[in-house]
Amino acid sequence: MNRLDGKVAVITGGAGGIGKAAGKLFVAGGADVLLVDLDEQALKAACQEIGSNKVSYCVADVTIAADNHVMISTATERYGGVDVFLANAGIEGDVASIVDYDERRFDQVMAVNVKGPFLGLKAAIPAIDKRGGGSIIITSSVAGVGGGPNVAPYVTSKHAVIGMMRSAAKECAPMNIRVNTVNPSPVETRMMRSLEEGIAPGQPEIAREQLRSRIPLGRYAEPEDIARIMLFLASDDSAFVTGSVYMADGGSTA
Ligand SMILES: NC(=O)c1ccc[n+]([C@@H]2O[C@H](COP(=O)([O-])OP(=O)(O)OC[C@H]3O[C@@H](n4cnc5c(N)ncnc54)[C@H](O)[C@@H]3O)[C@@H](O)[C@H]2O)c1
Repeated sequence: MNRLDGKVAVITGGAGGIGKAAGKLFVAGGADVLLVDLDEQALKAACQEIGSNKVSYCVADVTIAADNHVMISTATERYGGVDVFLANAGIEGDVASIVDYDERRFDQVMAVNVKGPFLGLKAAIPAIDKRGGGSIIITSSVAGVGGGPNVAPYVTSKHAVIGMMRSAAKECAPMNIRVNTVNPSPVETRMMRSLEEGIAPGQPEIAREQLRSRIPLGRYAEPEDIARIMLFLASDDSAFVTGSVYMADGGSTA
């Protein structure tokens, strides 16, 4: 039997690198999957790439409460309920010192990376409760457990969701809803290309090599490396795991 047979999963940031990889593995594991993101064309392309009648999409902005309710009601109407919620949409913000950082950009990073998961949890918890329990996974980062220069708002946001997860894990345990974070080090997605360019403008390969050299396993993660941990946390294989911070960092924080 597949690990996610009969389960329904909602994945935000589903058109992005990690979200799409998780969608692919969840579908392969037997789940019905709703990918949620901002851009319809990107979502269509992600669904085509996954290439299954068990995946579909919903355009929604995670910073808007009503959109979060629409994504959960869409999954419920289309697939009969929600068992797994992966709060994964995120933005990196700018690469700039605290002194130089644009205040509105700070608000935007917080809106997507912190308020987004909060609104997602608000909408998803009652739906998962109706199924008698399930799993919520929030994508944090190595930036959720340590600081770094010139990315303070991103680091702040990824620390914040660990606190949110820990509170949610205690609040949701009586409903048999487990809540955990996955915390990747650099992953081969658009986000790292953007950060590399921000760290070393015009010479992103220098930033890449610096970042890579700090990872004991000697490489960036592939999106599938991260998605496999998400699959474990989504499935009943992790039935006794809640409130946990899952480092997926090639030994970076060891
Ligand atoms: N790539 C990395 O190295 C890395 C490392 C640690 C953590 N993460 C985290 O992993 C998650 C996924 O990132 P990724 O690497 O796949 O990047 P990505 O840019 O490929 O994917 C992020 C997705 O989120 C979507 N998104 C942004 N704002 C949104 C909004 N308001 N509403 C709905 N969707 C929105 C984007 O459109 C994009 O498709 C993020 O939370 C990111 O912070 C990434």
